[in-house]
Amino acid sequence: MSRIAYVNGQYVPHQHACVHIEDRGYQFADGVYEVVPIVGGKLIDEKGHLDRLWRSMNELKMDAPMKRRPMQLVMAEVIRRNGIENGLIYMQVTRGVAPRDHPFPKNAQPALVMTAKRLSMEKAAQKAEKGVTVITVPDIRWQRCDIKSVSLLPNILAKQEAVEKGAYEAFQFDGEGNITEGSSTNAWIIDQDGTLITRPTSNSILAGITRAALIELLKEKGIKLELRSFTVDELRNAREVFLTSSSSYVQPVVQVDDKVIGNGKPGSVSLELRTIFKDYMDR
Ligand SMILES: Cc1ncc(COP(=O)(O)O)c(C=O)c1O
Repeated sequence: MSRIAYVNGQYVPHQHACVHIEDRGYQFADGVYEVVPIVGGKLIDEKGHLDRLWRSMNELKMDAPMKRRPMQLVMAEVIRRNGIENGLIYMQVTRGVAPRDHPFPKNAQPALVMTAKRLSMEKAAQKAEKGVTVITVPDIRWQRCDIKSVSLLPNILAKQEAVEKGAYEAFQFDGEGNITEGSSTNAWIIDQDGTLITRPTSNSILAGITRAALIELLKEKGIKLELRSFTVDELRNAREVFLTSSSSYVQPVVQVDDKVIGNGKPGSVSLELRTIFKDYMDR
């Protein structure tokens, strides 16, 4: 089945999908985005993702390209046309096309693009069974990391460094030596006393939808969570480490920089939380 993209009101073959050279997303990274998982043909946490998209637009005083209901219909149609059973839908809103000038344009129409891609649940499961490695890097991003902006250069540099070092992800640390989050994931640890810890939401991190869903599941199961910052040292000396995101779900981490975590295999709590999250997605 050939891939179909949605671009400003039209469904077009993926290889022919394009936007104007003066789209402000292209020129200024003046745009926001969402990535929503699809499992068993169903969108996971659609409401949470749409709420966050609207919040990102509001924070940047950007008009929505359409109301929520029609946007949901476009999402469903993109999934249908691409025949996706398991994968992701990518949605991007920019402030639109206008002659290049820094202030907000007066009459530009916000632009909306959506694409969808398949993901293999088997490959994701294999990765979880093996665990992944992460590196730590200084967080050089701006002070509004709560906005899911397409301005991702620092995240790209962090991820590239991870790839060059053979790692899966880069966890960033702030000026106080506390971990903020991964380049496209939220970071969690279980300390030597067995306490589950993740950083509270603020302008320093993206409020992950996977993170929020897992926090609700922890409450349901009566599993205690400490919402506080943790240092690079605490990360390196943790009993278990894992990360969460819409594309990785709950992914155990087995090495941080040169430090092996536990016995170098995914921790039992991380794996249990992955199963709990998988069951939630299959509900
Ligand atoms: C910087 C950052 N943090 C965290 C996340 C995880 O968020 P979510 O669980 O909503 O995918 C992402 C996802 O792209 C991200 O880019």
